[in-house]
Amino acid sequence: MASSDRGQWSSRFGFILAAAGSAIGLGNIWRFPYSAGEGGGGIFVLLYLFFVIAIGIPVQFAELSVGRTTKRNPVGAFKALAPKSLWPIVGGLGVLTGFGILAFYSVIAGWTVGYLYQGISGGLASITTGEQSVDLFTQITTDPLIAIGLTAVFLVLTVLVVRGGVSGGIERIAKVLMPVLFALLVVLAITAMTLPGGMDGVAYLFAPDFSELSLPVVMSALGQALFSLSLGMGAMITYGSYFPDDANLWQSGVLVGICDTVIAILAGLIIFPALFSQGMDPQGGPGLVFVTLPTIFSAMPAGQIVGTAFYFLLAIAALTSTISLLEVVVCYFVDERGWSRTMAAWVLGGVCLVLAVPSALSQGAVPALGANGIFGAWDFLTLNNNIWGNYSLSIGAIMICLFVGWKWGIPKAMEALELGNHPMPATSLWGFLVKFVCPIAVFIVLVFIIVSGQYF
Ligand code: TRP
Repeated sequence: MASSDRGQWSSRFGFILAAAGSAIGLGNIWRFPYSAGEGGGGIFVLLYLFFVIAIGIPVQFAELSVGRTTKRNPVGAFKALAPKSLWPIVGGLGVLTGFGILAFYSVIAGWTVGYLYQGISGGLASITTGEQSVDLFTQITTDPLIAIGLTAVFLVLTVLVVRGGVSGGIERIAKVLMPVLFALLVVLAITAMTLPGGMDGVAYLFAPDFSELSLPVVMSALGQALFSLSLGMGAMITYGSYFPDDANLWQSGVLVGICDTVIAILAGLIIFPALFSQGMDPQGGPGLVFVTLPTIFSAMPAGQIVGTAFYFLLAIAALTSTISLLEVVVCYFVDERGWSRTMAAWVLGGVCLVLAVPSALSQGAVPALGANGIFGAWDFLTLNNNIWGNYSLSIGAIMICLFVGWKWGIPKAMEALELGNHPMPATSLWGFLVKFVCPIAVFIVLVFIIVSGQYF
């Protein structure tokens, strides 16, 4: 399909906002604090920051360069650059992973809508203690109809935006609301840190305790770096494919990475001080953020309004991420299978809802799907979060590096990154990271985790 039919970001700024919109989401505000809490705090954060720089940014450049050159979806991109080879399978794995992530992500995103409703209807205002907050969370997550209903609401919203196409839908939303979210997070972080005992949370987040270092923590920090930057499944191939020819791609990518990391740290600076001031357990699992936050709102003037605004913005941040997940899948069916955008969005959104049902029911509605049920120690949602959000993305990251480093070639990728006359610094370092460091390091982590059997 000609590039003019596929649409394009209206400007470099449009791309940055949309890509930042994809990157910034529940991964920063829900997943990062919960993984950091389970991973021992500071040591997890240290590893995560290291992986963002050493693995995340190089992989991001690799994906963007492939997308910009081919102007195709992940499968089509590999087909275009390596015809008659097995490489398109990597794109196929990416499309599948997008689906797998969306099928649990939309459940959590549904919770944000549930909390938004509680904020509007006044339910949030009555929360002052940790126990009351747990009760509210239980109410939203354990009723099967509510859990599935909220997931459905969220998927319908996602479908409606994706159906509108890239610049029509995605860009417009991201432009206005992302900066507002940032401002609100700063206010919340200041409030949380000034709560009694709040600074203990800051220490937990930044002072690494090396005795907590373990393989699962390394794996989870690596997975988090990829997940948070929306890497390892071709989302950035797809977003790079809409990038204008004259704009600075690599710099835009770095900016997106910085924004994403800053937001994750900010979220940590809200959650951990709040947790410590309430004497709650950092290892609270998937419910952590949802249970912690209402207690901060109650400590603030006009807390109900602040809380309602927060859940609204969080829902929007999640939406700009679910859009990018569904967009990859839709883009594949439109480009490669000739479906209309509208049909692809509705059909694939519907299939995703069906796949999301067991995750939605795994948080209390059906105990067999929960922790210590038929899937072992992990509940079904956590299992999916780890399989798709850690392992599959890591495999994807290895493959994209091997492809760009060894098959397609660093010089051609460089050309795409510098297109429009934007020379990139440290190009040979980037080539070295993509060819050797990233694939080998990620492979070693995967092998060790499998051999040691610590993946459960
Ligand atoms: N990065 C998003 C977040 O942090 C989630 C996400 C959107 C994603 N698209 C992705 C993760 C593609 C991996 C791959 O919430």
